[in-house]
Amino acid sequence: MNPAPRLLRLNINGQCHTRAVAPAITLLDYLREELGLTGSKRGCDLGECGCCAVLVDGQPMLSCLLPAADLEASAITTIEGIGCGNTLHPLQEAMIEHGAIQCGYCTPAMVVNGVALFEREPHPDEHAMQTAIAATTCRCTGYNAIRNAYRAVAAGGETR
Ligand code: FES
Ligand code: FES
Repeated sequence: MNPAPRLLRLNINGQCHTRAVAPAITLLDYLREELGLTGSKRGCDLGECGCCAVLVDGQPMLSCLLPAADLEASAITTIEGIGCGNTLHPLQEAMIEHGAIQCGYCTPAMVVNGVALFEREPHPDEHAMQTAIAATTCRCTGYNAIRNAYRAVAAGGETR
C-alpha cells in the first residue's frame, strides 16, 4: 500500500506552491512532475551527473538527492527562476555568445552552478571556475566553450 500523500509547501522561484504529494518525493520529481518545471534535468538520478542542480538558499544542490519534504523552510531557485523576465543572467548571455551549448542537456546545471559561483565571487579564479564546471557532466564534452563563457563573466565581473 502506498503511503498517504502529505501536503507540501515549497517556495520555488519566489512563489509558494502547495501540493499533496507522496511523502518521499524528491525535489527533482516535485519540480518536473508536479510543477512542470522541466529545466532541471534528470540524468543519472543517483547524484553523479550533476544535471539536476538547483539553488537551495543560494547554494547549488542536487535535486535528485533531496527529499522535498526537508525543504519547506528554504528558498529554491531553478533555472526557470534565473534571469529576470526577458533579461538573461550575464552567464546565460555569455553561454549563447560563446556557443557553450550543444545538446543543451547539461546547460541548466552549468548555469545554476555558475550563478552561485558569481554570486559568491564576482571574479573567481580559474580553479574556482573549473570546480564549478566540473560539478556537471557534459556528455557532449564541450567544456572549452563553457569555460570561455565563465571566463567572460569573470572578466566582466557582472553578477546580474
Ligand atoms: S540526476 Fe541528479 S546528479 Fe544526476
Ligand atoms: S551540451 Fe550536451 S551534455 Fe552538455
